[in-house]
Amino acid sequence: MKGKIIGDILVLKQDVEDPETLLKVPGVKRIVKLGRIKGSKREPEVDIILGEGTETIHKENHCLFKLDVSRIMWSKGNTTERRRISNIANEGETVVDLFAGIGYFSIPMALHSPVEKIYSVEINPVAYDYLCQNIELNKVSQIIKPLMGDCREKAPKRVADRVLMGYIGNTHHYLDVALQSLKEEGGIIHYHESVPEKLKFRRPIHRIMKAAKNREVEILNKRIIKKYSPGVYHVVVDAFVK
Ligand SMILES: C[S@@+](CC[C@H](N)C(=O)[O-])C[C@H]1O[C@@H](n2cnc3c(N)ncnc32)[C@H](O)[C@@H]1O
Repeated sequence: MKGKIIGDILVLKQDVEDPETLLKVPGVKRIVKLGRIKGSKREPEVDIILGEGTETIHKENHCLFKLDVSRIMWSKGNTTERRRISNIANEGETVVDLFAGIGYFSIPMALHSPVEKIYSVEINPVAYDYLCQNIELNKVSQIIKPLMGDCREKAPKRVADRVLMGYIGNTHHYLDVALQSLKEEGGIIHYHESVPEKLKFRRPIHRIMKAAKNREVEILNKRIIKKYSPGVYHVVVDAFVK
């Protein structure tokens, strides 16, 4: 059985012969089948197999994520990265999350790091609505300021000690936005990219260096998050840009 459990919903990747038997899996109350993930807003296509409704609350790392599995994606493969980012920031930091989604990184960071402020930008109104609900659910409204719209227009400038770029597609087109969000004295960017195996980590590092122009760059960490498709990896590079 290929699938993942999101809240009380079992999300299958393929049809199964006897879906009723899967209701015996602990915690599973509903079953849906996932199709493709569409467009830059990353919206999934979903068929309901058993049960009613597709909204649920998923718990991970002491965080609550409310989402509708038919409208919002949840990547199980990003679990380790969500945990890693949750406690990476230092006391008093200001963070800008350029691609916040429903709060995948912002919520764990607000709950588990001693940060002062997180500006979380999200372009998709549905994801933005869940982001706002998740801020309330997790009681972190003192820390997270949600901003609705394109990060190119909405991201605050020269405020951040750290910028999260948790989106893959054309993330490099937003490196200039991330660099503008950093404080004058510099800061860290967590840059995500989907990259062919051969170019892994060369291309993302090259892109960061190119965007930084004559600013000093120190690569702090690089890791594979998951295999994205055959021969293609989702990677993250942490870079300090002065
Ligand atoms: C798919 S989520 C990231 C997934 C996440 N890393 C996880 O752990 O599952 C990326 C989000 O970026 C948003 N997005 C894409 N382009 C954007 C832009 N230009 N400005 C703000 N948000 C954007 C999408 O709507 C989406 O909700």
